[in-house]
Amino acid sequence: MFDFEFHNPTRVIFGRGKESVIGAELRQGGASKVLLVYGSGSTKRTGLLDRVLGYLSENSIQAVQFGGVVSNPVLSHARRGVEIAKNEKVDAVLAVGGGSVLDEGKAIAVGALASDDIWGYYTGKVPEAALPIYAILTLAATGSEMNGTSVMTNEETKQKYPMKSSAIYPTVSILNPELTYTVPPDYSAYAAVDAVAHVIEGYFTKDGGPVLQDRFVESIIKAVMETSRIFMEEPDNYDARAEFMWAATLALNGLTLTGVKGFSFPNHMIEHSLSAIYNIAHGAGLSIVIPAWMKWYSRSHPRQFERFSQEIFGVSGVGAGIEALESWYRGLHAPVRLGDADIPAADIDMIAANAHDTGVRWGIGDEYPVSAIAEILSLAT
Ligand code: NZQ
Ligand code: ZN
Repeated sequence: MFDFEFHNPTRVIFGRGKESVIGAELRQGGASKVLLVYGSGSTKRTGLLDRVLGYLSENSIQAVQFGGVVSNPVLSHARRGVEIAKNEKVDAVLAVGGGSVLDEGKAIAVGALASDDIWGYYTGKVPEAALPIYAILTLAATGSEMNGTSVMTNEETKQKYPMKSSAIYPTVSILNPELTYTVPPDYSAYAAVDAVAHVIEGYFTKDGGPVLQDRFVESIIKAVMETSRIFMEEPDNYDARAEFMWAATLALNGLTLTGVKGFSFPNHMIEHSLSAIYNIAHGAGLSIVIPAWMKWYSRSHPRQFERFSQEIFGVSGVGAGIEALESWYRGLHAPVRLGDADIPAADIDMIAANAHDTGVRWGIGDEYPVSAIAEILSLAT
């Protein structure tokens, strides 16, 4: 067990109908005018947006609406949000949606208090302040509801980078599993892929570490697999959606990485290039990258793969677990090869160069030179 500090300041309010407390929470937090950030239509279709507006007005909270956040949120739209937040002098951000909406809400919360452009915070600067961020989550997958990360795409340069800061943990995140019933089958599947990906990265790349963390990760993976099997058949199964939602939150709220060191996120490094360049869903990119990366990485690090095969799938050998994971992806109808997402193999070198730029920023540029990333991607053809 390596030394660590762990502090997660987000208050999670979990359960049926809990979004109804949002107005009171904001008022208690001292907010009187919020920027209400939402996506491209789902919150309007489900009636959630109108209900939220009602909860706000019941508590005399003024709402400035800012919709139109796209999946894989883009810088130009976030910059518009910052402008509006500044002009309207809002005192908090309320993000209602999936990971993309939460991430853009975080960007706006930072930009509203900054005198410089927000892209700088995705390329090196660490923000020290942000407006308070409140979230009502409608798609469980990314963990953004309980972490200090926001991922943004600069659509002009095709760079997709994270901003990390203790200033952007949501103050309050409301998690009502019922709100996820309407997530379509493809995004429900990608959510399961992403939640597993978040724990897999550390599990395979860390330097040793406590058995508690391995057990914790394996529990999350198994819970995701068991619950996703149920909600893919029965989208409105409360318990399956609820357990999945909490598992996805725990997968990237810092807890699985306590007491371990030396870990990295190479699959996310490569995937972010796929979604930056081709605008595919993040989970769909991961189900393409992960089996390929596993084949490549297990050549030099076989031990943990043997454990993975045994503990997760009850099979033995390095390759058997990788194959079993790939068939789980196929069962979810998630793509597993570049061609499944219409990404041409001829683009591999260009994608690898893009991902390597991320790797350099993440301190793993030497471990993942362009040639290694290209080799991994060629295992996904
Ligand atoms: O925009 P709307 O209309 O709301 O539709 C969304 C979107 O089309 C829809 N949706 C969300 N909730 C719904 C719903 N449709 C029906 N009913 C509901 N209840 O689902 C689509 C996908 O939403 P999105 O927010 O894009 O998905 P997700 O939560 O997977 O977020 C993906 C983004 O998060 C980043 C990804 O890279 C990607 O940009 N990530 C963020 C992380 C973080 N902040 O820690 C870590 C992750 O590794 C990831 O990189
Ligand atoms: Zn992810």
